[in-house]
Parts: sequence; structure tokens; C-alpha cells
Amino acid sequence: MKSVPIIIDCDPGIDDTIALLTAFVSPELEILGITPVCGNQPLERTVRNALQVCELGGRPEIPVHAGCFRPMLRDPIYGQFHGKTGLGNTVLPDPVKTVEAMSAVDFLIDTLERAALSGEHVTVCCLGPMTNLAVALRMRPQITRGIARVVMMGGAYREPGNRTMTSEFNMLADPHAAHVVFSSGVPIVALALDATHQVMLKPEHVAQFVSVSGAISKTLGELMAFWDRNDVARYGSRGGPLHDPLVIAYILAPQLFETARARVFIEYESELCMGQTIADWYGKSGREPSAEIVTKVNAEGIIAFFLERLARYTEKVAA
Ligand code: BDR
Ligand code: CA
Repeated sequence: MKSVPIIIDCDPGIDDTIALLTAFVSPELEILGITPVCGNQPLERTVRNALQVCELGGRPEIPVHAGCFRPMLRDPIYGQFHGKTGLGNTVLPDPVKTVEAMSAVDFLIDTLERAALSGEHVTVCCLGPMTNLAVALRMRPQITRGIARVVMMGGAYREPGNRTMTSEFNMLADPHAAHVVFSSGVPIVALALDATHQVMLKPEHVAQFVSVSGAISKTLGELMAFWDRNDVARYGSRGGPLHDPLVIAYILAPQLFETARARVFIEYESELCMGQTIADWYGKSGREPSAEIVTKVNAEGIIAFFLERLARYTEKVAA
């Protein structure tokens, strides 16, 4: 099978890290670059974390391009559940690898323009606020021709928000950027809280993941233990959702997901509902659908999928 060229736009972040580590051991994916953005942490930190995670996962050759320093218009809000550094209590070695000279926005434009010319369209995975892609689209709208699709984590349709009553973190952190991307006409697959809350990572899953993941098991155990506390405290649920890793799972195992098409609107004016994602399920707006929204996830299948992928780190050590 020919590999799928992807760019991973992210704000690591504990769940971003698990998504990256999963992508690293998936040869079906050709990771062209990683583009950290200001999100869960200030840019300096998400860049550093991305560099460290590339080294942790044995993929130091993947270029990391620093993205936008701030959201398009609003002030940064930063994540609340990833600890002081964005990686919980985990301390990784200082990275040897360095960030590329080219900015994330220029990298997106350059790569997507080339993809438009070659016809080898690129999947853009958005795991954080969508500032980088939105700015690139504002600079060169024609880059949509190089995008196969955007597969993104963010939003809350039939679920309430996780950062405010109405809004999910990535959408609230840069609602203007989300509006730009969702109105660009590019094909979008949206993994919102409606999807991610269907896959709760319970302590017994964490134990299984840790036991199979060889080279990264210590770090994975720490990250997952830190992450797990959040939703137990917040929703009273046993275990927490994996959020960002589902983007990678969707690309590699789409049979585990069901979707419905709808026009998506992002609220970016109201103080009360800032960042809310609204789906026109019934065609009330008279506008064409703009996204495939994931409505159903096979949770057992997803856990088995991650278990199988993360077990590849054992093989890495053995090799
Ligand atoms: C999203 O917000 C961030 O804190 C996570 O990394 C994820 O991308 C979930 O709402
Ligand atoms: Ca994220």
C-alpha cells in the first residue's frame, strides 16, 4: 500500500504526544512535517515538546516547523490539564534535534502548493487550535488544491463543551481560525467531543498499554496516569478520553468510525458561546455540508488498535 502523506499540526500536549507516538510507528503514513502551534502551552513549549517527542519515538528525522505565536485575534488561553510543561510530570531529555528555519505557515504553503502540482494530495491532521492552517489559507487560498482532507480534533456538537459550557478547547482557543478553515471549502473530517467521549481510557487499558510498549512504556505510563486524573475529576467518569490520537486512528482504521455530513458554523462573536461548533444536521441553513462529523466510534476496536500500534515499540527495542 502506498503511504498517505500527512502533516501533523499540533500543540503537545499529552494526548497530542500519544497521537504522534502512534503515527511514528505507522508505516502507512508518510509524516512530511510536524507544525506545533500556540495552544495547550505557549509556542516555545509546544515546539520543544514536539522535538523531544520525535526523539522519544525514534523519529528525529521528521522536520518540526514552529507555527503561530498567538491565535489569529484573541488572547491565548492555554490548556489546563497537561501540567506545567504540557507533558504532565514527565521530564524528557533536552532535545538534540533543532527546529527548522522555515515557519509552519510557509511549510504548509510550500508543501501544499507542491502537492497541488504533483497531484499527490496531503492530509492535514489538526490536533490543536487551527491557527497555522488558517493563516496559510489566508495567505494562499489556493493551497486547498493540495489538501486531500483535513482530519481534525475539536468541537462539541451534541455534547457540551469541555472548556466552557458550550465550547471545546481547540475551538475556543482560536475560533476565528476554525471559522476560516471550516469556510474554506476544503474536505474536513471532524472528531469532536461527541466522538472522543465514546472512547474512555480506563486504568486497565492504561496498564495494558504500558505493559506492551517497550521503549516508551515508562513515559507512556506517566503521561497516561497524569491525563487520567482530569476526567475522573471533571465528569466523574472512570478514565479519560484520548482525543487527539483518534485523528490518527481515523486515517488508519476508518472502519471503526461512523460519520454524518453537515454544514458547520463556528461562533466567534458571542462572549457566552465563543468557540461553539454548530452543525446543521437537517439542512436548515440552506448551505451545503462542509464536514463529515464523526458520530459513532467502535471503542473496543479503537483500544485494540492502539494496543497493537504501541506494541510496536517493543519490537523497536528488540531490533
Ligand atoms: C483538545 O484540547 C487539548 O487540551 C487536547 O490536546 C485536545 O487537542 C481536547 O479538547
Ligand atoms: Ca491537542
